[in-house]
Amino acid sequence: MIWRRKLLTPAMFLIIVMKVFTGHTLICHPAEYQIGNECCPMCPAGSRVKTDCTEFRSTSCLSCLDGTYVDKPTGRKNCFDCTNCDKGLGLKVKTSCTTTSDAVCERLEGFYCTDQIGNNCVEAQKHRICQPGQYINQKGTAFTDTVCSDCSAGTFSNGTFTSCQSHTQCESNLELIKPGTASTDAECGEKRSNVAVPVTIPCVLLFLLISAGLIYWFYFRKKKMSFREAEKNTSSAILCQPSLENG
Ligand SMILES: *[C@@H]1O[C@H](CO)[C@@H](O)[C@H](O)[C@H]1NC(C)=O
Repeated sequence: MIWRRKLLTPAMFLIIVMKVFTGHTLICHPAEYQIGNECCPMCPAGSRVKTDCTEFRSTSCLSCLDGTYVDKPTGRKNCFDCTNCDKGLGLKVKTSCTTTSDAVCERLEGFYCTDQIGNNCVEAQKHRICQPGQYINQKGTAFTDTVCSDCSAGTFSNGTFTSCQSHTQCESNLELIKPGTASTDAECGEKRSNVAVPVTIPCVLLFLLISAGLIYWFYFRKKKMSFREAEKNTSSAILCQPSLENG
């Protein structure tokens, strides 16, 4: 007797708990749902309950509309709305929604998933863009961001390289025109003296020639003018003198 009572007590307790939570002891078959004091057959996946069963007829079901789904037999009166793979959240459709399964989303190209639930990506972010002066240390994947690292001295990358490249060393017949930076290569060019001599010398000569010409012209003109002035003065003196003598 004691043994039996001990065994019964947990079972009794369970029944009491179920009574408290459900209000009655009716337990439906797994393929049925409870409505009032009835057990009704569930509607199959892809459909919903239109009207509950009665004593006289079975449950009537309606197929889910486009954009809605139910993925398992149900006693629900509404289908679920399909998940929207929002571009604004960095997502695109991986598997389209059907009436029996929700859509599955994945990250857009160039994004990585920051919030994954099971097979479904809920939110994604754009891969980091490496700045000029940095190289792509680790390329971004579906689940990790890009890792950028700075170039070391004497090397450069415009942000798209997977490693920094050494600055070009100008060959002996060339000259450094622009030193390299972390984001740009060095620039080499023809040695300036090679270009300067044939261009500068004729320029200087031409300048000197023109200057000399101008100076000569000014000087000559001035001399000529002062000569004329002197001539004028003498002639007026000659003209004046007789009148003075006559007077
Ligand atoms: C970086 O350099 C590569 C190769 O020289 C070039 O194709 C690319 O357009 C450059 N990108 C930027 C952002 O300057």
